Amino acid sequence: MDVDISLRCVEMADRPAIIRIEAEATPNLRYLADVFPLFAGDPDGDFAVAEIEGEAVGCGKFTVMPDGTAWLEALRVRPDYQGLGVGKAFYRRFIETAAEKRIRTMRMYTNASNHASRGLAEHFGFSLAATYRSASAATANLPPGPHDTSFAELGDRDEAERLLMPFRDTWEGFCVMNRTFYGITPALCRHWTDRSMVYRDATSGSVIVLGARFLPERALHIALLGGELHAGLAFARERATNMGIGEVQCMWPPGRSGFASLLFASGFEPESRDYIVMEWNG
Ligand SMILES: CC(C)(COP(=O)(O)OP(=O)(O)OC[C@H]1O[C@@H](n2cnc3c(N)ncnc32)[C@H](O)[C@@H]1OP(=O)(O)O)[C@@H](O)C(=O)NCCC(=O)NCCS
Repeated sequence: MDVDISLRCVEMADRPAIIRIEAEATPNLRYLADVFPLFAGDPDGDFAVAEIEGEAVGCGKFTVMPDGTAWLEALRVRPDYQGLGVGKAFYRRFIETAAEKRIRTMRMYTNASNHASRGLAEHFGFSLAATYRSASAATANLPPGPHDTSFAELGDRDEAERLLMPFRDTWEGFCVMNRTFYGITPALCRHWTDRSMVYRDATSGSVIVLGARFLPERALHIALLGGELHAGLAFARERATNMGIGEVQCMWPPGRSGFASLLFASGFEPESRDYIVMEWNG
């Protein structure tokens, strides 16, 4: 069937339509109502809506990451309009946007059993970059841990880079916050340092990246944790408690099985599905 699909930038007035698209396409994953101003007002990105005969049927967001790569997110097509080429139209727009911005690497994530999402990405030349696991804990369920730790914010970009870059190998290249996969790069280390997300405990030699890309009230995210893990988890608990945040989330590569065991022993509940990150290099 030949369908006329048009894509344009989202406008503020599109908020109800975007909320409807998300509610129908991903009823169990809803956050666009809350991040709408952030996404629609992103000066470096492209938040677009797809229309068929004037009806808003899909949306997708192209986001420029701190290291100059692109993150493709919030791709949603209303179920009644799936299979008509809307998702492909978004990917063509993503590739055009990347070319305009001279961006050579794009990534997206999906759950490991979302064959349509993965197949669509593969259709445009994306390939599997990594698989990650996810778990979350109610803040109140986390153990208080040792009291002789002294985490303090690390404000020195160079020192943060020195401490965090070795994670690139041990965490299989990525770290995750709000289900956004960040390549571990010096630019990212600077980005997080400038946003007060890097903490070090001189006593135990531990380092942790804690924070939220958006929706900080929903969950505190552990993007990286190394050194004495109990101490780091106790610090995450303390931060979440002090900030009134009821949940702590973490995603990690399957190879870190010892890390996973510690999370589970500390009150984290695993999600049943793994997540994959797909990558395109132009
Ligand atoms: C994934 C999604 C965006 C695809 O949108 P769409 O408009 O239906 O996609 P299109 O019609 O443009 O393209 C379909 C293509 O997807 C791929 N695809 C679809 N189903 C597939 C499957 N079961 N296995 C492998 N590839 C599949 C194919 O490449 C297909 O092209 P083809 O029909 O020529 O083979 C849509 O299904 C959706 O909104 N799903 C819910 C939200 C979601 O999963 N978002 C993605 C990331 S979280």
